[in-house]
This record gives sequence, C-alpha cells and structure tokens, in this order.
Amino acid sequence: MLVVDTISELRSYLAQARAEGKSVGLVPTMGALHEGHASLVERSVAENGVTVVSVFVNPTQFNDKGDLERYPRTLEADCQLLERLGASCVFAPSVEEVYPEEDTRVFDFTPLDKVMEGIYRPGHFNGVAQIVSKLFMYVEPDRAYFGEKDFQQLAIIREMVRQMDFKLEIVGCPIVREHDGLALSSRNALLSDEQRRTALAISKALFDSVEYAKCHTLSETKQMVEEAIAATEGLELEYYEVVDGKTLQPVSTWDDAPYIVGCITVYCGKVRLIDNIRYK
Ligand code: PAF
Repeated sequence: MLVVDTISELRSYLAQARAEGKSVGLVPTMGALHEGHASLVERSVAENGVTVVSVFVNPTQFNDKGDLERYPRTLEADCQLLERLGASCVFAPSVEEVYPEEDTRVFDFTPLDKVMEGIYRPGHFNGVAQIVSKLFMYVEPDRAYFGEKDFQQLAIIREMVRQMDFKLEIVGCPIVREHDGLALSSRNALLSDEQRRTALAISKALFDSVEYAKCHTLSETKQMVEEAIAATEGLELEYYEVVDGKTLQPVSTWDDAPYIVGCITVYCGKVRLIDNIRYK
C-alpha cells in the first residue's frame, strides 16, 4: 500500500493504475478509522481495481475550533488497518497541500442544506463540498463511498455531483453499529466508558420508535424519542427531525412521503453524536 501526501504523487500513481485499465474507488475519510469506514473500504476494494482512501481532517467543515482540535488523529493505526483491508493508496495531505490559498467557493444546496446540520453547523456543508469536490478533482474516481450515518451529507454530496456534473457513482453504505446498537463514529473514541453506556440511549430510542410508530402518529413518535433523550441524564438533544428521505424537509404525517427517515443529533458531554433511522 502506497502512502502519499502530495497531489502530484497521487496523480502519478493514478495515471499508472488507469494505464493498466484499473477502475478507481475513493473512500474519503477524516481518519480515526473504525469498522464503519472498514465496510466502505471493503466494498470499494471488492468493486474497483484500486482503492484510494483519503485521510484528512478538513478544517473548513468545522465551525467549532474546539471540535477541530479535539478531533482524533491516528494516522499510523489507520494505515495499518487500511493495509489489512487491501486499500491500494492512502492520501494524507497537509492543510497547506489542499488549501495553498483560501477556498472561497460558496455552494448552495437549497433546500437540502437549510435544515438540521445546516442550521446547527453553519458553513459545515460548504466545507464538506469544498473538500469532497477537490478530492473528486484530484482522484477522478469511478465510484466514491460514503456512510449513511451522515445521512444529510450523503444527500448533499449527491446533489453536488449533480450540480457540478461529476462523472462518478456515489455509493451509500449502511450504518455499522456496535453489537449493542451504538452507531460507529470516530467521535465515540472521545467518550468515557460511562458516557459510552449513556450514549446507548440514542440508538435504543430510535429502534423503540420504529415499533412505536406502527400504532402512533408521527408527532407522537417524535415526542417519544425526544422524551426518551430528555429522560437520560448526560444527554442533551440538539434536534430530532423526521424528514422526507429525498428532500430532507420535515414531514408531519406518515403519508407525507414514500421514504421517511428520523435524524437525530445529541450531545453526550462535549461529544456531538448523530444517528438516523428509516421508518419507511
Ligand atoms: O464524513 C466525513 O468523514 C467527512 O465529512 C468527509 C466526507 C471525509 C469530508 O471531509
């Protein structure tokens, strides 16, 4: 497995791979890799001639400086895992390599970026679009892999591909959970053992709500989730929205859309955790 930190090394590696007729899969990450990332890499390795994994904590998508500083960085362990998974190349550039000058591009994904994370993390999706579009331009992948845990991010990246006319397939991959239900996240590494147990209430509330939804209205179900989080000491709900899975706009009855997803963000201490569940 090749590890490179410059765009030119990455491009010459990819030129060679393409000359050999190999298709290219890209798995963009911010490192601190876990089984959720592993599932994306495994899928890319199975579907492409070469798999590039980018490891880059992108500063432009953090609207909270403390969050950026706290973000776990574990490049050596990440490379060991990626080697075992059969990745072909790791691209781990410096901030200066990716942003030799300020990226002033402004994206507009209305209405997808005007709800949920778009409200609570202003500028976040603009930063995601900046880095992901740059990665698509450097790598020119045939396929790029993203987790469904970041449900809104996935919808926005699909929209960015449509707007910018990138020629690639976006592959959404299911959430990977711990045996007890907690959605895997790089941020879980920041939880104490006690917080880890407390955080379980999030996935439990979501799973319980799917059963509850079978004989309750949408607003009753939403309330049930909100109350379950409020009743758990150590958790603070930022939002719980039940949305049309395509447009991400809130719905008010189960008949409002053919595809309905509940998206939640909760603070466990200082750690911001997100999760989602599909109702139909
Ligand atoms: O989902 C993430 O880890 C990041 O938002 C991404 C897509 C790698 C862009 O920095």
